[in-house]
Amino acid sequence: MTTDWEPRLAALVATLTDGGHLHSSEWVTAFAATPRHVFTPEIIITTPDGYRVLSGDDSASRQEWLSAVYSDESLVTQDKPHAAGHLVPSGEPLRVPTSSSTMPSLMARMLEAFDIDDGMRILEIGTGTGYNAALLSHRLGDGDVVSIDIDPCLVDQAGHRLAQLGYTPTLRAGDGADGAAEHGPYDRIIATAAVPDIPIAWVQQLKPGGKILANLRGDLAGGTLCLLSRGHDDDEVIGPILPIGGNFMWLRPNVDDPHRPHELAPVTQRGTTSRTTTNLDPAEVPVDDAGFRFLLQLQLHAAQALWRGPAFDPVTRTEHDAVTVTAADGSRAEAFTGQENGRHRVSQTGPRRIWDTVETTHHLWRDLGQPAPDKFGVVANDSTQFAWFGNDDSWHRWPLPLI
Ligand SMILES: C[S@@+](CC[C@H](N)C(=O)[O-])C[C@H]1O[C@@H](n2cnc3c(N)ncnc32)[C@H](O)[C@@H]1O
Repeated sequence: MTTDWEPRLAALVATLTDGGHLHSSEWVTAFAATPRHVFTPEIIITTPDGYRVLSGDDSASRQEWLSAVYSDESLVTQDKPHAAGHLVPSGEPLRVPTSSSTMPSLMARMLEAFDIDDGMRILEIGTGTGYNAALLSHRLGDGDVVSIDIDPCLVDQAGHRLAQLGYTPTLRAGDGADGAAEHGPYDRIIATAAVPDIPIAWVQQLKPGGKILANLRGDLAGGTLCLLSRGHDDDEVIGPILPIGGNFMWLRPNVDDPHRPHELAPVTQRGTTSRTTTNLDPAEVPVDDAGFRFLLQLQLHAAQALWRGPAFDPVTRTEHDAVTVTAADGSRAEAFTGQENGRHRVSQTGPRRIWDTVETTHHLWRDLGQPAPDKFGVVANDSTQFAWFGNDDSWHRWPLPLI
């Protein structure tokens, strides 16, 4: 008898192949053999009021749960209260996702791009539900899969789910930033949690010729997956940012705290407000362009947010359309649309005058041909890490981390 999930799993695989995310027979077979619902028995969905849990054991919501589980969406499977203590409309605390099952098409594109072959040994950072560890176990055999998560409960649950499918990869609880040297070295290290730079332990635990796939993330620009290779004769990794957008939750140092320490940096602004003018028309700042955001993240240390919208203009004492940029040290700049003698008013406060960096970045972005993130790359070794534009010999390079 056909179960209620089999046709849905087949439909998901068809969506991934038809969408061009999945093409090699090895990965098509792995996805088709891995029922996602086993790894996501409960998921948390956001409603206009707050949150709801969908469970496979609840007959009233089972069909809704199955539709979500077999959709090409990421699924939140664990969350914790936000440190700011805000409430959502239902009166519950605002929550931050701390574990999820990655969007299947993103997982498929990453695995396809990762050049995984028979006989390789792989370390996954961020076990989460165990779904990706199951895909890897199917592809490589569970004896060559090692997966680590900071949350021991998640590791335990993932172990039971993997065992249901007959897999017993090596699972560990701990900080993935340290890798898992005792089970290495590895041909491949894949991180399903985001980092502002490449933890050096990953480079050290990689075999010569090995590769790292990780989401390099800042607060302004996140969807940057880099594929870094270690040469056969050196101990550094180098490689491009891939033309695959993919945004993961942060790799965080503390299991009980859903935030990275920098996210809790004071947002209060310090220092005096200065009022100047700019000849960069705020209307021309490409606030939604991934390449511009990435370049600004590189140029403006600790850049936090960039948006277009109404802001209070202290000169006219009214709201005006503006472009606002903020940084984690409390610096903030607003440039208002509308001209005065051909220039636009800027209000800046906090320890740094960060509009100046928006201006120089805009010039540079145009000079470089308005590049997408995949025109950049990364080098990491024991002593240095930087992002480059074009190639690693380029004059255009920026030190990491991104935050
Ligand atoms: C997007 S989820 C991983 C999805 C998972 N690969 C799957 O297939 O379900 C990110 C995971 O990273 C874990 N994580 C966060 N910080 C970590 C750290 N420092 N070390 C290891 N894992 C960490 C979280 O607990 C979370 O489970």
